[in-house]
Amino acid sequence: MTSSTERPEPGPDYADQTHVAAGGDVDVRGIAPGDSASILDTAVLEDPFGPDIVDKAQQIIARYPVSRSALLPMLHLVQSVQGYVTQEGIAFCAKQLDLSDAEVSAVATFYTMYKRRPCGEHLVSVCTNTLCAALGGDDIYKKLQTHLGSEEKPLGHEETAGTPGEPGSITLEHAECLAACDLGPVIQVNYEYFDNQTTDKAVALVDALRAGKKPAPTRGAPLTDFKGAELQLAGFFPEDEQTYRADVDGPSQAVETLRGAQVAQERGWTAPVMEDVPLPAVEEKK
Ligand code: FES
Repeated sequence: MTSSTERPEPGPDYADQTHVAAGGDVDVRGIAPGDSASILDTAVLEDPFGPDIVDKAQQIIARYPVSRSALLPMLHLVQSVQGYVTQEGIAFCAKQLDLSDAEVSAVATFYTMYKRRPCGEHLVSVCTNTLCAALGGDDIYKKLQTHLGSEEKPLGHEETAGTPGEPGSITLEHAECLAACDLGPVIQVNYEYFDNQTTDKAVALVDALRAGKKPAPTRGAPLTDFKGAELQLAGFFPEDEQTYRADVDGPSQAVETLRGAQVAQERGWTAPVMEDVPLPAVEEKK
């Protein structure tokens, strides 16, 4: 599923074309400077969810005994097409799953993985939760804010450097615990891990992404782009699935991950047995 690595080099003034952000919780079509009408016309004329996407949606739905259970991967499918959850995407899911637009919106706005603004080619998530923050995550996030934006106008949470969807564009976000605290400070690119980061490593990483490169994550699947990752989250994998799976299913624990268990084993420590305490009775609702 990995996309081509041949991407145009960013222009010399690339660093200046930053801050394409739609503003909080607003569909970008409503605020696109000057030409929102033409963007809307295009969206109406060209259905982004053609037969191929409808077919994929049906494959997703067929995995579940109840169709509405397919909503989460369906929203990832929508993001694989448009780079965020658009109004058309919400309507598409609602129609395919026989739900109301409101029901789909309620789910799409609950989870942070569903983006409400157009995403860059890559999504860079910096963990700023307690452990990573103490180990340097806050410094990394601040550095990337000014490196991708400027000292005067640092890039904000979920803002994009470059034009969303265009090669080399990067959406930056801070995240609360990426579930790799033993390897902090941690960054994810399109949800793939880059462990034990420093500000210098993080700057080199985003510079490589902006130059069209796909640095290898510390572990797991090879790097793709945001839309490619979304397609995988919808359950569709590259043609060379076996190779891909070997990467994904390979060993992912680090020395740090196993250290606690090793110390316990060496010293003969075990967890105390839990007493069999009866659960309190729950009153039946009338
Ligand atoms: S605190 Fe950063 S991964 Fe948990």
